[in-house]
Amino acid sequence: MPQSRLGLACHALLALGLMLSPRVFALPAATPAATPPMGWNSWNWFADKVTDQDVRKAADLIVTSGMRAAGYVYVNIDDTWEGERDATGVIHPNAKFPDMKALADYVHSRGLKLGIYSSPGPLTCANFAGSYGHEQQDAATYAGWGVDYVKYDLCSFRDVLDKAGITDLDERDRRIRAAYAKMHEAIVATGRPMVYSLCQYGFDSVWTWGASVGANLWRTTGDTSTDYDRIVVIALTQIGLGRYAGPGHWNDPDILEVGNGKLTHDEDQSHMTLWAMLAAPLLAGNNLTRMSDAVRDVLTNREVIAIDQDPLGSQVRVIRQEGPVLIWSRPLADGSLAFAVFNIGTDRASLRGLQRDVLQAGAPPGAVARDLWAGRTLKSLRDLDGLTVPSHGVLLLRLKRP
Ligand code: GLA
Repeated sequence: MPQSRLGLACHALLALGLMLSPRVFALPAATPAATPPMGWNSWNWFADKVTDQDVRKAADLIVTSGMRAAGYVYVNIDDTWEGERDATGVIHPNAKFPDMKALADYVHSRGLKLGIYSSPGPLTCANFAGSYGHEQQDAATYAGWGVDYVKYDLCSFRDVLDKAGITDLDERDRRIRAAYAKMHEAIVATGRPMVYSLCQYGFDSVWTWGASVGANLWRTTGDTSTDYDRIVVIALTQIGLGRYAGPGHWNDPDILEVGNGKLTHDEDQSHMTLWAMLAAPLLAGNNLTRMSDAVRDVLTNREVIAIDQDPLGSQVRVIRQEGPVLIWSRPLADGSLAFAVFNIGTDRASLRGLQRDVLQAGAPPGAVARDLWAGRTLKSLRDLDGLTVPSHGVLLLRLKRP
């Protein structure tokens, strides 16, 4: 999308973001997904090619790269693991996944958790077997394997409604919600805790009802891609949704593309910062076998992850937009403030008025500014004026009490 269209989208969404403010939910620490889930998902890189070996290798690399230590825990197998059902209806993995229980044991032995994927329809998005009519059986199978996370993707459930002749939109929405609730109940009945992730691309304002059908996270958008403009547009559509999310139940703008395709280092940092400011799940989607040091550093920056994982679970507040410069803040549990300046334009941007913005955004009195990507503490807030941000780059600050 050319910058002007991106700019227009920003202006429209800015107004919405300024009108709405985050609502915070406080739940016990034992709550599943008390902070946004972190891990890795096979889809963005491997898509339908993913195998048992790829998942084992990913688990190994999550450990050796330092990602596990930084908080990435879930190793999520996305679509295309599914094989045939046997005569009793039990689902079996296909030849790419010879022994799912052994794979789960391996992932667990690395100190990680295993995620799996299915659909409320008879077929998944890639036309493999879905869970329609087999919800309890599938949930029990997952529990038996030792699965810790289920992504449930709408896909062909819409065809079920078409075939049943259900055209009334409200009735279709009601049935979709019921289908999601059904799998939640099936998971609960297994007695095994599993994070429950809804995937229906943000239709029917899922953020208003996702938690009521037991979801710990719900996709709010279509898929991410390795295009910077797409990442920015997705992030902008999240403004105002923070009031529906909080500990235990999160908006999910989809798997990260950090390290994939042609995203530059500045774009990777911006993508990670957008997701951190949105309190979004951090599911890496890159090829870990060929991860550069620079990409690893973006994914494992502890101070940036701490913004994403802040226990308050509040989401972004839009401070202002000036041309291609977007200024966002996010209050944090210890009274400090996350403050991000994105330059979505094509030229380097000189920043003006940031001291005033920081104070207006609610920085604690006498705040000390830590530049999280540079890993340095500014001597004084006066140093903020005169800073520049490269095209598609970001400045991310944590403003702490002195
Ligand atoms: C949909 C989802 C993706 C992925 C694929 C798998 O497109 O949005 O995240 O799960 O299906 O087929």
